[in-house]
Order: sequence, then C-alpha cells, then structure tokens
Amino acid sequence: MRHDRALKPLMEVLAGRRQRTPPVWLMRQAGRYLPEYRAIRGRVGTFLELCFTPELAAEVTLQPVRRFGFDAAILFSDILVVPQALGQAVSFESGDGPRLDAIGEPEGLGRLRESVDQTMLAPVYEAIGRVREQLPHEVALLGFCGAPWTVASYMIAGRGTDDQRPARLFAYRYPAEFGRLMEILAGSSAEYLVRQFAAGVDAVQIFDTWAGILPPEEFQRWCVEPVRDIVVEVRRQVPDAKVIGFPRGAGASLVRYVDEVPVDGVGLDWSSDREFARTRIQSRVAVQGNLDPLVLVAGGSALDRAVRAVLDAFAQGPFVFNLGHGILPETPVEHVERMLAIVRSHGGSRP
Ligand code: CP3
Repeated sequence: MRHDRALKPLMEVLAGRRQRTPPVWLMRQAGRYLPEYRAIRGRVGTFLELCFTPELAAEVTLQPVRRFGFDAAILFSDILVVPQALGQAVSFESGDGPRLDAIGEPEGLGRLRESVDQTMLAPVYEAIGRVREQLPHEVALLGFCGAPWTVASYMIAGRGTDDQRPARLFAYRYPAEFGRLMEILAGSSAEYLVRQFAAGVDAVQIFDTWAGILPPEEFQRWCVEPVRDIVVEVRRQVPDAKVIGFPRGAGASLVRYVDEVPVDGVGLDWSSDREFARTRIQSRVAVQGNLDPLVLVAGGSALDRAVRAVLDAFAQGPFVFNLGHGILPETPVEHVERMLAIVRSHGGSRP
C-alpha cells in the first residue's frame, strides 16, 4: 500500500513539481557522524547484524529524521546485502570497508545462486514496515539497491579498490561471463526493489558509485543498459514506481543516462557542472545533489557560499537538496544544522 504521496514534498519533486523550499535529505544520513547511531552501533557485534535486525535498522533509519526533520528517510541497509543473499560471504571490517569472498575468475561465478534467497532479505522488508509505521506522513521513505556494475565491482575484487581494476579487467577478458553476472544482479535487484515497494517504500534510489570510471562504451553496456533493465522490470510490476538514479561521476554521459534510463530523478555528484546539469538534465528530470561532503565538514563561510551556490543553480526547477556523495563520519552535527537553516530559508525569508 502506498501513502498520500501528494503530501510529501520529495514525491512532488519526483513528479516534476518544483517546491518553493526544496526538500532535503543526505546520502548516508544514518551513520557514524551521529552520536545516537554510534551508541546503537556499539551495542551490536557487526554492521550486518545491525542491517538484519529490524528493530535496530528501523531505529537508526529514523534517528536523522527525528533530529533534523529531513524530508526523506532512507532505509538503513547496504548495497552488499544482495551479494550476501546470492550466496557470497560478506563482512565489514571496522574502518576498513567491506570484505567479500572474491569471485576473482569466472569459475568463482559457479558459487553464486541464480536468484536471491528472499528469506535472508526478509528482515529488510520488516524494517521498512516498522519505519513506515513511525514515520511522519509528509516524510518520504526511500529504499535502494546498488547498480549491477558497482555491486559486481565489489563482488569480483572482494573489497573496495580505488579504480575497480579487477572488475574492469574481468569485464574485458570475460565479457560473456561478466554479462551473465550483470543479468543475475539486474534480475535480483529488480526483485529486491519490487519487494521494497510492497513493504512500503515511496521511491527507490539506485546507487552506481563507480559509474564514472567506465569508458563510454562500457558506461553504455554495464551502467545504462542494466539499470534501464531494472527500472523497466520494476515498473512492469509497480507501474507508478518512482526511481532516482545516481551514476556517480558520469559527467557528460548523464545526457545518455537520462535519455535511456527512465528515471524520475538523477543524483548529481559534487563535480557535476551545474550549468550543464541545469540546462541538459534538470530540463528533463528532477535533480538531487550536489553539495561537496567536504565543505560540510569544513563549515564556516565556505559552507554558506557552497549551499547558496547549489540553491542558486537548481532551486528554480524540480530539485532535492542533498550531498554529491555520502556524508563523512567526521562531519560536525552543527554544520548539518547550518546547512538546513540556509536551505529552509530559501523561498521564504532568505538571508
Ligand atoms: O544512506 C543511508 O543512510 C542508508 C544506508 C547506506 C549504507 N550504505 C550504510 C553503511 C547506504 C545507502 C549505503 C550504500 C552503499 N554501500 C554504497 C553506495 C553509496 C556510496 O556511498 O557510494 C556502497 C558503495 C556501499 C558499500 C559499503 N558499505 C562500503 C564501501 C562501506 C565502507 C565504507 C564506510 O563508509 O565505512 C560500507 C559500510 C557502511 N554502509 C557503513 C554504513 C553506515 C559504515 C559501517 C559502520 O557503521 O560500521
């Protein structure tokens, strides 16, 4: 069941209707910069245990909404629960990022299931239901998944790398096997998102953190096409599904992305050229972004100027204020408050 979307500013923007004061949320808004998150994180053994315990996942999802009154809650989970549900062991070493049982070579694909084990993901859907019950009606609930290219890059390397060299090499050397992995991920991700909608999310975001590292032909083949397949399949089952794409680092290829992937909104990373994004992208779909997470760490006059520059560029059209990537753990909470004060005075009594 979906809920009064008309009352949610974020859903209005995704329907193409500009809001006088743009709705605002932050990628990774539930996380280590919040003392209340660290308190709960300290009570559980592992990060995945937190993701898979519905009461706690729901609680940390709600924390930033309670503290800051954001216009969206994003489900607390991780993109790597999908490989986990495909049978690949995943763990998170504190401070050292994710570790997976690396696929490495094509033989490694044999260890994966063809589709996700839904019983493993059931706690995620339960967490969505719990958040839904407690969320103010004007706040949108966002689900998410990783895009196949980004998820595959972690699956193949078994960890984060600076340039996704293992996955790029694998895709060049074994295009048929890599294509098969992308198909499995696209199918699993579509099913995962459909279930998130059934559990009560209003919209979903597809994170393609490593899209920008691909050459143009590979961007088309491993980013645009699999994400398009996901959106088409989700809409076949949930016709009014609202989707935000976030192909980080796509640059000028964003034009091709919005031409071919039927998203309702696009997340802009902080390096996006704002004039280009306003004229070529926001003219087509809603945009979201794109404050540099580091300027939110820095604060002061640099923050004030940067927030106003983002508003000046995009607030005349359908726009969701956000960062250009996830909030950093060292971000002072007061800087988030300052940012919000400027965003919220926009369209009203602007300072
Ligand atoms: O945005 C939110 O608040 C919702 C939760 C969320 C997390 N991860 C929680 C998390 C979301 C949407 C993600 C997405 C995600 N996870 C992406 C795509 C977006 C991006 O940031 O690029 C990627 C690439 C991952 C994989 C991942 N998870 C990495 C590389 C790491 C380690 C880096 C880090 O920040 O520590 C994680 C761990 C992770 N995922 C944490 C959180 C809050 C930190 C772990 C902890 O608190 O112990």
